Amino acid sequence: MSNKLWSGRFSKPTAKAVEEFTESVSVDARMVAEDIWGSEAHAIMLAAQGIIGEDDLRVILRGLERARELHEAGKLKLRQDREDVHMNVESYLIEEAGIEFGGKLHTGRSRNDQVATDARMRMRVEILDTQEALLHLQAALLELATGNEATLFPGFTHVQHAQPITLGFWATAHASVLARDFERLSGAYDRVNRCPLGAAALAGSSFPLDRKLTAKLLGFDSVLEHALDCVSSRDHTLETLSALAICASNLSKLAEELVLWSTSEFGLVTLDDAYASGSSIMPQKKNPDVPELVRGRTGRLYGALVQMLTVVKGTPLGYNRDLQEDRFQLWMAFDALRPSLHLMGDVIATARFDTDRAAELAGAEFACATELANWLVRQRGLSFRESHEIVGKLVGAVADAPDAFADAGRVAELMSQAGIEAAAAELVPLLDPARVVAGYRTTGSTAPREVRRMMRALARQAERSRADVESRRSREWSARQRTQTVVRGVLAGEGLGDLLA
Ligand code: ARG
Repeated sequence: MSNKLWSGRFSKPTAKAVEEFTESVSVDARMVAEDIWGSEAHAIMLAAQGIIGEDDLRVILRGLERARELHEAGKLKLRQDREDVHMNVESYLIEEAGIEFGGKLHTGRSRNDQVATDARMRMRVEILDTQEALLHLQAALLELATGNEATLFPGFTHVQHAQPITLGFWATAHASVLARDFERLSGAYDRVNRCPLGAAALAGSSFPLDRKLTAKLLGFDSVLEHALDCVSSRDHTLETLSALAICASNLSKLAEELVLWSTSEFGLVTLDDAYASGSSIMPQKKNPDVPELVRGRTGRLYGALVQMLTVVKGTPLGYNRDLQEDRFQLWMAFDALRPSLHLMGDVIATARFDTDRAAELAGAEFACATELANWLVRQRGLSFRESHEIVGKLVGAVADAPDAFADAGRVAELMSQAGIEAAAAELVPLLDPARVVAGYRTTGSTAPREVRRMMRALARQAERSRADVESRRSREWSARQRTQTVVRGVLAGEGLGDLLA
């Protein structure tokens, strides 16, 4: 006969293949501590509400403490025939403390609200870890920008030379993208950090559960009220996966640039030997494997999001076993993105940017042509369309000599042929990428002083972000401590009323 906690109405043991097919211990392994913490909080609340006695509570908490010690020592083995972490912990308790006490723990609780609670608690940790890795990369980009506010760099559109920019401008662009990725994860955290415990199976409970108390003991910001919503919804998982996938997509674009720019053709960056790989046959090779894998691993993140969207789309309200599929991709997604963010930070921090080559490319291929057209508008009163046409013709005439714009005399000559008289000296600043870059006046432009201002703003924002992560961690930590204090107090024979006051 099966020893399962739900085996009452069954007359045959579960087929082995079914046990293997339906298990979730493999993904639950990541939330054992959360499951035990959740059980402690639930038991404390049951006793505080007079649903179980304080003596029962003591026995239950003693069993849970032992489970926790075993888990922390790596000795709490999750058995597949016990299906999931919830039944593993409860079965352990029953074995340890006896059916009477172990069984009382599940009063007013279902695995449906339990799993939703555990996963949310674990997601909090994973989101904060991801945000920390993100800030590491962002810090490396801001560090790279420091001192390079005015360092010339080629700016591209369509991967064709477009206009000169600065290295600091490029680095702060990625840093500013990451600031939004951070915000998205914070938003997801806000939605994740609401407590579904107390929803029970789907309809709430006829026991007078104090949902605020469990939410508080578990460090949640608030109670997620509607019981049916609590057990049915995984939109917080979709939102988190979506934030992760968008972040991966942004990261992949940065990776792509590093791959391109480390080619001899671009020659803009050299990756540190410690962050590059070689070839087994070609002795000369140095390959950008880290950015390539970051780019490639993006597929895992998109896959996770699409998988989860697909899992939930056909599930009616109420818990459906499909939902168990959530953690397989979710944990994988966190595991893929966090090291990608972290390593990219290391890659950026150790890479060498070739500033001579960058300066050379910054003005290449008529990159200053737009400024010449702007000058015709300002100094000669032409409409921009007219000036665009004139400069376009000029470029067309010397298209096979891309260095022609480096010579102001030659450009003056070409202008004169187009009916515009200009002294070479007047044109010099328009054709000099450094002066072009310095001449930008708009908010958010590549002008070095603007880059410097944006760097400062991003650094301040990063400070606040770091403080946010810290304060969320410490809120979790103090809730954990609060619960532990109550547990220890109860085990020492103190009254629950005093402990919770
Ligand atoms: N193991 C399940 C999951 O991972 C939670 C248990 C709910 N199962 C159930 N049969 N009601 O989602």
